[in-house]
Amino acid sequence: MTTPGTDEAYDRINELFDGAAVVVTAADHEETAGCLVGFHSQCSIDPRRHAVWLSKANRTYRVALRSGHLAVHLLRAGDRELGAWFGGTSGDEVDTFADLELDRGPGGVPLVRALPVRFVGRRVALLDTEGDHACFVLEVESAEVDDEAGPLRLSDLGEVEPGHASEEGAEE
Ligand SMILES: Cc1cc2nc3c(=O)[nH]c(=O)nc-3n(C[C@H](O)[C@H](O)[C@H](O)COP(=O)(O)O)c2cc1C
Repeated sequence: MTTPGTDEAYDRINELFDGAAVVVTAADHEETAGCLVGFHSQCSIDPRRHAVWLSKANRTYRVALRSGHLAVHLLRAGDRELGAWFGGTSGDEVDTFADLELDRGPGGVPLVRALPVRFVGRRVALLDTEGDHACFVLEVESAEVDDEAGPLRLSDLGEVEPGHASEEGAEE
């Protein structure tokens, strides 16, 4: 039970957090997928673990359920267009990787060359609290970084209509 105004205040606090936007990719034996993700955080120091929340409405969630590894790519200040692409387009409609050069990581997970700051993690847990997103906990197996520009913040993205609204997955 929440008091009136709680949701609005909570949403505003999250806007103030203004996290770094990432692109999370996945692959199973047949399919690849990837989407923009704002819900993610380091969640253990030793071993290094990172939690990523995927919307049950997304193709990326469905492919990730069958993936042993996920790749988490940092978007930089100059990557707004790519972020808007992965946030506003679903792989259910078009091949979101068609114009991108890719390498492949463990299990075939797509590594986007245009986003070289990234890590790959092996899934060690899946937490479903019956919300509209589920949490994939990754043990970090490899990471690549450089000293270029800082992250693209969620606020830098501006208004992007998600390729799938999270409400679409709420009944699953
Ligand atoms: C600002 C913003 C933040 C988003 N954060 C997340 C997120 O944390 N997790 C998620 O699964 N989807 C998130 N999305 C939605 C997906 O990126 C979007 O629905 C995407 O088109 C899904 O593609 P897919 O169906 O190919 O997986 C976000 C979208 C936007 C615009």
